[in-house]
Amino acid sequence: MIYPIRLYGDPVLRKRARPVQDFGGLKKLAEDMLETMFAARGVGLAAPQIGLSERLFVAVEYADEPEGEERPLRDLVRRIYVVANPVITHREGQVEGLEGCLSLPGLYAEEVPRAERIRVVYQDEEGQERTLELEGYMARVFQHEVDHLEGILFFERLPKAKREAFLQEHRAELARMQKEARALLKELSQR
Ligand code: NI
Repeated sequence: MIYPIRLYGDPVLRKRARPVQDFGGLKKLAEDMLETMFAARGVGLAAPQIGLSERLFVAVEYADEPEGEERPLRDLVRRIYVVANPVITHREGQVEGLEGCLSLPGLYAEEVPRAERIRVVYQDEEGQERTLELEGYMARVFQHEVDHLEGILFFERLPKAKREAFLQEHRAELARMQKEARALLKELSQR
């Protein structure tokens, strides 16, 4: 099942999500989140982005895409992560990089600062505790997704001047997204 992705302006994106306690339906939910993420051509998707305020996200490490070839994203999957109740227990180094978000489609910020290496403790889809050491791009993806569980969006990690420039530059698109977010909420409440 593909969920509608909640857009900037939706209050669920601003809430601190609650811990996952029931792992019973998690496999199916994670599969639906992955399907939603693949359809939107993303690298990660957090539960609040489908309107579910729980500490859960999915993320995918892709193999490099062969040049000039349009292959289905699923063929390029190197590793899938289903991550519940993540805690980043160690951060090291700092790097700046490009980020976007499925809840702010078409908007990107360069120079979003993130730790270069992290250690994260979490539970997998069966509730098993796991520890991962990540660096570079996947470390960035995990930090972005963990932020979603705290109600934080990527541009808010920018230093103040760049954050204000981002909001100014994209004022029209952000206002349009807020309007769309309200329309989607209205539609969902009438279903
Ligand atoms: Ni995002």
